[in-house]
Amino acid sequence: MKKFKIGIINVTGYAGLELARLLIQHPQVELTSVTGRSAAGKKLNAVFPHLADSNLIIETELDDVDFAFSAMPHMESATVILPLLEKGLKVVDISADFRLKDAIEYSKWYNRTHPSPQILKQTVYGLPELHRYQIVDARLVANPGCYSTSAILALAPVMVKGLIGNYAIIDSKSGVSGAGRTLSLKTHFAEVNEDVAAYALEGHRHLPEIIQELNLLKSEKSLSITFVPHLIPITRGILTTCYAPLIGRTATDKKGAAMIKQIYSDFYKDEPFVKVTSSPPHTKHTLGSNLCLVYPTIDTRTGRLIVISCIDNLFKGAAGQAIQNMNLMLGLPETTGLEALAVYP
Ligand SMILES: NC(=O)c1ccc[n+]([C@@H]2O[C@H](COP(=O)([O-])OP(=O)(O)OC[C@H]3O[C@@H](n4cnc5c(N)ncnc54)[C@H](OP(=O)(O)O)[C@@H]3O)[C@@H](O)[C@H]2O)c1
Repeated sequence: MKKFKIGIINVTGYAGLELARLLIQHPQVELTSVTGRSAAGKKLNAVFPHLADSNLIIETELDDVDFAFSAMPHMESATVILPLLEKGLKVVDISADFRLKDAIEYSKWYNRTHPSPQILKQTVYGLPELHRYQIVDARLVANPGCYSTSAILALAPVMVKGLIGNYAIIDSKSGVSGAGRTLSLKTHFAEVNEDVAAYALEGHRHLPEIIQELNLLKSEKSLSITFVPHLIPITRGILTTCYAPLIGRTATDKKGAAMIKQIYSDFYKDEPFVKVTSSPPHTKHTLGSNLCLVYPTIDTRTGRLIVISCIDNLFKGAAGQAIQNMNLMLGLPETTGLEALAVYP
């Protein structure tokens, strides 16, 4: 069978590089073209020796491909994607440029007028667990942010069931690769090693997409969300802990906790990549896999819901989820090329 020809724009960032690693091993597509600014003209396997068997040359422009990924920084991505859409290509954008449906919200959070607001309405937010059927027919899919993936999957079941009150607190911790490969003082070894710090308390850019997606699941008043991200000294992984008041007649004892767990198990029972665990998951349990592990419980003292979720930020939080979307958009089995189990310990 003829394989689809796939291109990656910006293979020299961590997200683009992880896409290359996964697409090279994908049995039903062929990675035929990669671009990168600083390494243009060099062999991919010379710049990245872990991709030893690839003979691709890093180019400045994509060759003729059937499908493209953009792993450009936000605000650059929209510019490179528009001509691809005009050519009729299907695209998954790993950046944040098309995640928000509202161009005014985009300009508020990204300090820039959106270059193509008319496309925002037709773009599908690429979280297959919530939007699978729209992704199948989409021409442009906006891959969710890494923090957003972990937070939305942690809270979606109770949002759909209307079990939580009007606020949620989302506390997330991310490894350093989440900040990308671009050099910056805050990710120097001496700054990060043996250190843990909160940041973006004035509002992280993943917050509006978390609000957008969770509120789509809620019929009544919108949810008020406090989201605090933290940088921790690991390479990959996100651990998110969510807290929210339970409403209605949900029991807040051990029986209630078992009921909440059952709601999550039912909600995710057919999902290949979201698993409800019987103890709090660790980031290491998802390392190198497309899994999101979710552990819901109740603080029986306060009656508050606690949900812990874990992902690998470069896999389910970026490249793995992007390939899950590509599989859906190309009519391939959704899990193709993504079956690897986590690397543990
Ligand atoms: N890291 C994650 O966990 C993660 C998760 C989800 C989504 N994302 C998204 O994925 C995209 C890439 O992120 P990343 O983490 O891979 O970033 P990154 O590692 O920092 O990659 C950025 C690379 O982009 C290139 N670049 C920067 N400005 C450019 C420009 N104006 N034109 C062309 N190339 C430019 C640079 O490559 P050269 O050195 O070759 O110029 C740089 O190495 C971002 O939109 C990010 O939000 C990242």
